[in-house]
Order: sequence, then C-alpha cells, then structure tokens
Amino acid sequence: MGNQQSQDQTQAWWQSGVIYQIYPLTFSDGNGNGTGDISGIIRRLDYLNDGNLDSQTSLGIDAIWLSPVNDSPMIDNGYDISDYRNICPIFGTLAEFETLIAEAHQRGIRIIMDMVLNHSSNQHPWFIESSKSKDNDKSDWYIWQDPGYKDGLPNNWLSYFGGTGWTYCEAREQYYFHIFNKNQPDLNWRNPEVKAAIFDVLRYWLDKGIDGFRLDASSVYSKDQYFRDNPVKFGATDKNAYHNQHHLYDKDLPENHQIIREIRSLIDEYDDRVLIGETFIDSRLYDSTSFYGINNDELHLPFAFEFPFSPWYPGYLQREIQKKERITPEGAWPTYFLDNHDIPRHLSRWIECALCTNPQAIAKAAATLLLTMRGTPVLYYGQELGMVDFEDIPPEKLQDKAVTNSPSGEAPPNRDGARTPMQWDDSANAGFSFGKDVEPWLPVHPNYQEVNVEAAIADPDSVWHFYRSLIQSQKQSEALRQGRWRTLIHYPYEHMAYIRETDQERVLVMINFAYEQPFELDIPVERENWRVLVSNKTEAGKLIDLPETLQAFEINVLRKE
Ligand code: GLC
Repeated sequence: MGNQQSQDQTQAWWQSGVIYQIYPLTFSDGNGNGTGDISGIIRRLDYLNDGNLDSQTSLGIDAIWLSPVNDSPMIDNGYDISDYRNICPIFGTLAEFETLIAEAHQRGIRIIMDMVLNHSSNQHPWFIESSKSKDNDKSDWYIWQDPGYKDGLPNNWLSYFGGTGWTYCEAREQYYFHIFNKNQPDLNWRNPEVKAAIFDVLRYWLDKGIDGFRLDASSVYSKDQYFRDNPVKFGATDKNAYHNQHHLYDKDLPENHQIIREIRSLIDEYDDRVLIGETFIDSRLYDSTSFYGINNDELHLPFAFEFPFSPWYPGYLQREIQKKERITPEGAWPTYFLDNHDIPRHLSRWIECALCTNPQAIAKAAATLLLTMRGTPVLYYGQELGMVDFEDIPPEKLQDKAVTNSPSGEAPPNRDGARTPMQWDDSANAGFSFGKDVEPWLPVHPNYQEVNVEAAIADPDSVWHFYRSLIQSQKQSEALRQGRWRTLIHYPYEHMAYIRETDQERVLVMINFAYEQPFELDIPVERENWRVLVSNKTEAGKLIDLPETLQAFEINVLRKE
C-alpha cells in the first residue's frame, strides 16, 4: 500500500475527527411545531459532544454536517435554495444559526454547511429573472437552449429523478436544463457572474465562522458547451433511464475540476476549513478519487459510495477498502460512510443479505468497520441507535416531493424511509418535540419505544454504547486515527481481520460476520498480550491472548501491549 499517508504527520481536525450528519427537518424540534429546527439542534448539542471524553451520555463527535438550512420552498427539502444568504424560517433565524455556531464551537464541535451550488430553486430571484426573457440581466445565469431535433428537446440529457432533463419555458420559448427536479434549474457555471455571486456566498458563510462545506452534487457543475448527446450504454435496461447513458457530456467534465480547484483556493484563504463533496457519479471510486485533484488541490474529502453499494459480505467490503487504499493519492485522506439521507439505512439494506434476525449484531459490526478504517468516518443521525427505515409510511404523509412528483416508474425510490424523526425517548412521537403533542413532519418509526436514545444510554450493551466506545478508542489511539491499514486475510469469507499501525502502536480488528458458527482464527499475528479496546464478548481494558476461535458475530478491537 504505497499510498498510505505517513504516520506521525499532524492531522487536520477533519482527518482525526468523526463527522455526524444531521437532517434538520427530523433531528430535533425545539419550538414544538413538529418540524425539526435550529433551536432543537442547539438543545441536543450536549448529546453529540459535551466536551467530556469519559461522558456516558454523550457520543463525542467532532463535527456536524448539516443538510441545507437555507431559505427554500422545500420541494427537495432544502436542496432547492431560494436565498443563499438566509436561513429558512422553518428552521429559525440567522441569529439562531449564529448561536448554533457559537454553542457548537464552545463544545469543540465544528459546523459543516451543505452547499447546493449545482442548481437553485426555480423560486430563487435569479431564476425568476432569468426565465422572464432572453435579454434580462440574468438571462445567461441558467442553462438555456432552443428547442432541438428530437421531440423538440435540445438533446438527450436526462434528469436523475426521471424523464428528460429539459423543461420548456413559454416566456423564453426555450428549454432550461435540470439534472434533478424541474423545480431545481441548473446554474450556468460558465458564466463568470454566476461564479462570482456564488463565491461571495461562500465567503459570507466562512466569515460567519462556518468550518467548511459539503458541496452537493459537486461533480455535475459543468456541462458540455456544445450540448452533445450522451452515448447510450449498450444493452442497458435500468428502469431509471438516466443509468442507461454514459454521462460523458453532462457531468464530471474537466471544467468541473477547475471550478472545485477555485473553490478550494477560496477555502484555503481561511484557516482550518474543510471542503467535502458529493461525487455524484456512476463509476464511483475512480472518479471520486480524481476529485482530490492532481495536486491534492480540490476536495479534502470526496464522498464515494463504496459501503452503501456493497452487500454485507466481508470479501466484497474488503475488496472495496483495498481498492480505495490503492487509489487514494499520496497525501490525500479517505472518508467512509454507511448511510445518508438519500439511501436506505444500512440495517435495512443489510439485514436481508445477512439473513440474520439480530440487527443489533450487524449494527455493531458495521460500526466497528466504519470507525476503524483509515479515513474520516461520517455517521448519519440515528445510526448510533440502530435505527432502520420506516418502509410503510402512508402515501399521504410522504414528503420527498422531488422524487414523488417526478415521472413515475423512472424516479429513484422515495427517500423518506431513512429520514424519519430521531428517536429520543419512549414518550409520544419519540420525544422529537420535547413533550409537545404535535404530529411530526414525518411519522416516527413504530419501533421507537425500544430503539431510542434514553433506552440506549441506559443499556450498557446497546449499539449506542458500542459507537461511543469506538469513538473514544479512536480519540485515544494514534494507530486508529492515522495508522496504516493492512489486512490479515487474503479473501475473507466469514470474518475480517486487519491491522492499523504506526511505528509505535498496533491495533488488531477482528469481525466475525457469521451469525451462527464460531470460526477458527488463523491469522499471522502473535497471540499473546492484547489489550481489549472494544469488544462485544470481552470486557474492555482486559489483557488477553487471542482466542482459538471467534464466536458468532464476535468483534474485537485490540491493542498490542
Ligand atoms: C444530492 C442530495 C440529494 C438531493 C440532490 C439534489 O444528491 O444529497 O438529497 O436531492 O443532490 O440537490
């Protein structure tokens, strides 16, 4: 693994810390109206990190990635911004947002804002102006084209949410392009005025003390200047036609890298900020690592989807890790996540392929994998409880309008199941509105009486305590934070075993994926004198020799003495 960052290098906070994603509509409702908000998040900050490393009631995360809180008509629940400089009244005021930054910083928590810069809302004044005529001030701020040769459309580009990517505008007698919903017109990044306006927005938030950005859909900013058709993939029959094209001309263009480089140099004018991007691509790993930039001058952390797209199978997961280890450029730093607001939660994805009736066991194994990788772990709210998708939300309660309003049969699956309210306790609506009896924005998962923060904290064997111990161990172990990664098993069938090590410290991680049988442990390491950091079978702190066998679902994170 020639590309591994040399240890002993001082790490940036975003390399050594744990990031926690909050979906603000459903994390915590402070004003008691059923919808999550900023005051609700402030009231829960101690839960995330109360500044005490030994705390038994606080998770100990280092940064929040906050899904968008800017003003928005909420067609895509905030991923359609109508005012980049303001906070949506649903969430509170700008003053409350500034309080959130200050309160979070007091506890050592950084705030990473989600920035949706590929498109705005169609209700943004820029688009309202742009769509009025062909010759207004903002006429070239979006991607406009005359009707074309095929069914009147300018070309064959599609929307990821289903159907054509072009929508007709009577006033201009032209089409505008939208890679997502028609209410989310794509900005024209080739226009220097657009770029300048957006860069001003970024400075505005950086000046307010934001610690970085997660750039939404950051690989689709540029589109081909000649508007060439995308080639169609031979034999492809995905029901979302978007996946049946090679996206040569509507995403991941060289110009896109130039834009990210410019954003990065803007960020670099400020101390200690992070630039994360959603590399929204088909071929995932290769393309996402290209977003570090040739000279590591683009994204600090490009999100790729290797764990979300993997089955719960050790050989497959290990291969993804090995690939990532090989292709992460020298000097660049990986990042991993299991869940986010766009995909089913991992326990819902994996429980079927694991054929296992014990989701808690999978949750602990998955947590171990995520928090012992060489790379920044990103958690999605509720994952630390073992929350699962609510698959039976009544249709009239669904909120993912960007998808439900898109052409049926082609749109990706509705994403609401993974966005249900955080489960705080076993009171009405899982304590989401601090005791107020109001209907939450999305219904609470029916399992909230068993799966909730209060119950998890009270149970020393809970998934939550496992996460907490893993996070604490990471803080206390240089090997876990920055050590090299190497596997001890060539192709794992039932269990993974790998080492994280610096020259001073060695940590062994063993995870048995088998849910029924013990497994004979045959790995090339010394058997004596391992200190238990985290385990679901042996008490932490104990000095042990490696066992002859790993029990079903046994997990051990051990430090060599
Ligand atoms: C990203 C977001 C997703 C949103 C889309 C359009 O993929 O994660 O939630 O719908 O961009 O902004």
